Amino acid sequence: MTIAIRYFTKSKKGNTEKLAQQIAKATGLRALTVADDLKSRVDRLFLVNAMYAANIDGEVKDFLARNKDQIGQIVNFSTSCSGKSTWSMVKRVADELEIPLSEQEFHCAASWIFLNKGLPCEEDYQRARRFAQDMMEQG
Ligand SMILES: Cc1cc2nc3c(=O)[nH]c(=O)nc-3n(C[C@H](O)[C@H](O)[C@H](O)COP(=O)(O)O)c2cc1C
Repeated sequence: MTIAIRYFTKSKKGNTEKLAQQIAKATGLRALTVADDLKSRVDRLFLVNAMYAANIDGEVKDFLARNKDQIGQIVNFSTSCSGKSTWSMVKRVADELEIPLSEQEFHCAASWIFLNKGLPCEEDYQRARRFAQDMMEQG
């Protein structure tokens, strides 16, 4: 199974980048930003993103639009301070672009300004690493 990791981080905390690095560590793959288009088709795209103003960032949407023909399936990994996942937001875009999105996802709460200090924590990273490994092994 071919897998690629792409992430988008906006805040100075870099929560999504840190999460993507954990996923990279667990899978042995490189975590690149959404500025880096896919060079060839992948069976699964581990899309690591966060919620901003109750949506996903335009750069994430643009990446999916540019790379839709190279993606067999998206697996969503997300963080937000509300504890809500971005899965439904990614689903809307994925449906428009006709990219399959796995029902299985990873989500955790994350810090923003003075909220959720210290999150994601090591326990969240451990859960993310395990989920990424499972999704790598699952056919
Ligand atoms: C500009 C901005 C807007 C945000 N809007 C929301 C929001 O609407 N709902 C929410 O739950 N979290 C919101 N957050 C919190 C982020 O989802 C959370 O901090 C995330 O981990 C940020 O990831 P990053 O550090 O990789 O950018 C917002 C954060 C920023 C910086």
